[in-house]
Amino acid sequence: MRVLSGIQPTGNLHLGNYLGAIRNWVRMQDEMDGGSQCFFFLADMHSITVHEAREQRIRNVRDMAAALVAAGIDPDRSVLFNQARVPAHAELCWLLNGTARIGWLNRMTQFKDKVGKDREGASIGLFVYPVLQAADILAYNATHVPVGEDQKQHLELARDIATKFNTDFGVELFTLPDPIIPKESARIMSLRDGTAKMSKSDPSDMSRINLTDDDDAIMQKVKKAKTDPEPLPETAEGLTGRPEAANLVGIYATLAGSSPDAICAEFAGKGFGAFKPALGELLVETLRPIRTRFLELRTDDAALDAILETGAAKARAAAEPTLRAAYDAMGLMR
Ligand code: TYM
Repeated sequence: MRVLSGIQPTGNLHLGNYLGAIRNWVRMQDEMDGGSQCFFFLADMHSITVHEAREQRIRNVRDMAAALVAAGIDPDRSVLFNQARVPAHAELCWLLNGTARIGWLNRMTQFKDKVGKDREGASIGLFVYPVLQAADILAYNATHVPVGEDQKQHLELARDIATKFNTDFGVELFTLPDPIIPKESARIMSLRDGTAKMSKSDPSDMSRINLTDDDDAIMQKVKKAKTDPEPLPETAEGLTGRPEAANLVGIYATLAGSSPDAICAEFAGKGFGAFKPALGELLVETLRPIRTRFLELRTDDAALDAILETGAAKARAAAEPTLRAAYDAMGLMR
């Protein structure tokens, strides 16, 4: 069993990242009995698809490293690194570009969502993005990839690329990875629109809860979150057709380690005037310790760089045999 996952170091860690993915990373790390079989990385090579000034990019990588450590990733037990320090990702991506098909990439919904109507103006990097993601996973022969729902299609593509490569070259080189997607919090939605996912790229900061938000900001955002005038139903079934209400109940249930049905039973008949302060409290209590650790860690750039450099050395060693075998399978001398 080998666990691997990544996050783009653009903007802040938000509640969707935390509940959809990072909490599971920490859980899986804690459940594995050492041996450094968990690989978590900052996808800085993916993030070049968004233009950023040099200094900001450097800050973003350090901040995301600090955020992951603050959230519970332990660099002594997991391999924590950034992609750019491990050239195997870019190298294997190039090799896999010979295997991936344009038709497969054309079907990627995240690419379609991101380019909107301006397909011609989009970067090649954005189009090839899922091949780099496949390389990230296949280079380490990861078996379990904890992600939110939005990454499911990219994981399926990684499996398709692995299967085609193995078949084309008559090898059993790449392992097919399984996505690990949480049941309740696979898709945390925007606080302003229950049909759009919570995202770093939403122009409205009120749409998301950031790891860096202080207690007051969290409370304000929850209180101003869009809802409907109906009271909470007795069971989760009554949330059908009420996306904003379903999202808030889902967040509450995830944080409380409970189920939407149990939360509905607890608040049945009450309005959001009663529910929101309780949800706000729960969020504040959950995020405060992570934020406090994050603010401390981000003041020590040298320590963060050292963590990433140590992790990268381990990652380079782990990826090297697979990369070498891929060159060899293709008849490329290296
Ligand atoms: P990214 O940086 O967009 O998000 C990081 C993780 O957070 C999850 N996530 C969410 N989960 C639930 N609700 C939401 N609103 C929400 N928003 C984000 C994402 O599903 C993801 O798990 N392409 C990836 C990074 C990546 C990667 C990889 C992941 C690069 N290579 C290899 C796994 C394996 C991305 O952009 O995630």
